[in-house]
Amino acid sequence: MKDTRAMVVRSLQSALGSGVRPICTAGTALLLAACKGVQSSLDPAGPRAERIADLWWVMFWLSMAVWALVSLLLAYAYLRARRRSGNPPSDRSLIQFVLWFGAILPAVVLAGLTVLDVMTTKALLRPARPTKLTIEVTGLQWWWRVQYSGAEANRTFRAANEIRVPVGRPVEMRLKSADVIHSFWAPALSGKLDMIPGKTNRFWIEATKPGIYRGQCAEYCGAEHALMAFYVVAMEPEAFEVWLEKEAQPALEPALPRLKRGKALFLASGCGACHTVRGTPAEGLNGPDLTHIGSRMSIGAGILPNTQATLAGWIASAQHIKPESRMPSFDVFEGEDLRAIAAYLESLK
Ligand code: CUA
Repeated sequence: MKDTRAMVVRSLQSALGSGVRPICTAGTALLLAACKGVQSSLDPAGPRAERIADLWWVMFWLSMAVWALVSLLLAYAYLRARRRSGNPPSDRSLIQFVLWFGAILPAVVLAGLTVLDVMTTKALLRPARPTKLTIEVTGLQWWWRVQYSGAEANRTFRAANEIRVPVGRPVEMRLKSADVIHSFWAPALSGKLDMIPGKTNRFWIEATKPGIYRGQCAEYCGAEHALMAFYVVAMEPEAFEVWLEKEAQPALEPALPRLKRGKALFLASGCGACHTVRGTPAEGLNGPDLTHIGSRMSIGAGILPNTQATLAGWIASAQHIKPESRMPSFDVFEGEDLRAIAAYLESLK
């Protein structure tokens, strides 16, 4: 027995000396690096996400402590049993052991975590300052309708698949669904909240630093659930106000002949039955508002970068990129026509 133990210790020592340590160090670095990013609740960019991340780290370290304790006890029990195989512990000490480590300790740990959890939830109920901007987000299969209103917006207008917020100002969020249950989740800014048909769920978000944060639908909602993402762009308040004023305006009339042709084709092909471009006869409400689509970072609800090429690809082949979405593949256009429409949409800044 002693020989076996010595052998295990020796092989562990040699392994630690010969490379396990660098591997462990690299592994830990990789694990910690995985906490960073545009879509990580462990890389918070707002007070809500910070509170949630704090709670997560408390739970993590507490779980690590419990795990270490259990492992130590297990090792101790193993070694002790080997040493004194003929002499089992008394019933009384066994009962005491189970009482302390099986009932009292877990009860204290879980009660502590419950209190912490309730405190976190309570702290998230209301923002520190009143909100002046309301963003209503409606989940649809498989994209996001976005509507700005409130004192700061000055008027009500729609956009899609991208949300812009001012840094340092809390924003009221109203979440709705037009079909099935979706869930709105931008991990760097907040926890997730369901979007339930027939109901409006309210919460608030605030970004503490400028940046681009990715979010996605966090509730299975059909075939393309995995392709239902969005971006939250947090801007300095002055830049945000300029953007908001511009975003509320109707689309500019195109000046170049190619863009004029793109607009004419867009309207003649029936795109306006589903899409709105404010300031034109296109007033459809079934699909994303395209009034300022050229200023968005992505198309197809966060799945492709927004360029003329991807726009053309999406128009011609939406059913291959996102099968079963409501956007048909318009494969009837000649190359030049397709490029003209894409160029017109790209020009809608
Ligand atoms: Cu919408 Cu999943």
